[in-house]
Amino acid sequence: MHDLSRYTEIIQNGGLVAFPTETVYGLGADAMNPAAVAKVFEQKGRPSDNPLIVHVAGRDQLDTFAAQISEDAEKLIEAFWPGPLTLILPKKPEVPDAVTSGLYTVALRMPDHPVALQFITEAGALVGPSANTSGKPSPTKAGHVRKDFGTEFPVLDGGATRIGLESTVLDLSGSVPVILRPGAVSAEDILRATGIEVLPFTQEETTDQPKSPGQKYSHYKPEAEVFYNDFTSFDDENLYLIQKGPASTRNIINYAGNLQQLSKELYDRFRQADHEGYEAVIIQPLDSHLRTDHPGLYDALLNRIRKAAAL
Ligand code: TXA
Ligand code: MG
Repeated sequence: MHDLSRYTEIIQNGGLVAFPTETVYGLGADAMNPAAVAKVFEQKGRPSDNPLIVHVAGRDQLDTFAAQISEDAEKLIEAFWPGPLTLILPKKPEVPDAVTSGLYTVALRMPDHPVALQFITEAGALVGPSANTSGKPSPTKAGHVRKDFGTEFPVLDGGATRIGLESTVLDLSGSVPVILRPGAVSAEDILRATGIEVLPFTQEETTDQPKSPGQKYSHYKPEAEVFYNDFTSFDDENLYLIQKGPASTRNIINYAGNLQQLSKELYDRFRQADHEGYEAVIIQPLDSHLRTDHPGLYDALLNRIRKAAAL
């Protein structure tokens, strides 16, 4: 156990603290305090129509926010929490509109990280959008948060996050469960563990009113231009390469077909490319056979890369 009292006090006084999770760092604020939640939007420069995920550490906190927990929701919680699966459930009326952007649903998840769970237990349920300036890649290290919010910003440093891509968002508020944002937990994982059939994520995100408001914003993008392409057609020196093949003389991350490594490092590499002043990042297309072992990571990576490359 760590002594988190200094950070808990900040939250209880309506302030913000960044905290580690297994996916990315979250920007924590008291989920029941509308003024604290307003500060989260301000700090990130986040559009107010993009609702936040409430992070809980146990059943009591869940019941404070969700009006109803269906049989499917119970099964999913049993199988996947704590873990990278966010559930969209009907909300209780007392959940502040600032959290849900006025929707009748609320997003909930229990992160699989000991520091996060201790912090949420002590400080209460926390909203936790990724702790980055809106439009920047999500932070996977404490240093990324400090880069965006300043060196004095309170961050609970839990080292590099294990997964590196944001949680799967699963909407349980409609007649059929549907994945609104792909993450480490896939439709296949859900079917295998619970027998529940969910609609997989589809890339129909250009409508004005997507179900998950966050999907309409460009995210995850470095300053450098991102190409999802075979780099043999590029020969500029000023390129940052993310490839699966053996290292060449050019600047390289060689992920050797390992999706877990690529997921964990992608945002860090985006930030590094900017830090080093590269004009472009080229990501060699993923082999589709890699999907077999990690369908969730594969779909999530493809989604984040497509967004970064504006495809
Ligand atoms: O892994 C994660 O989920 C990280 C860590 C910190 O937990 N958090 C995260 O939060 O990625 P954020 O705010 O960057 O993304 C939340 C996503 C957005 O796409 C948002 O639109 C969607 O969840 N969302 C939140 N509440 C929703 C709701 N009631 N209905 C539909 N989508 C919702
Ligand atoms: Mg985010």
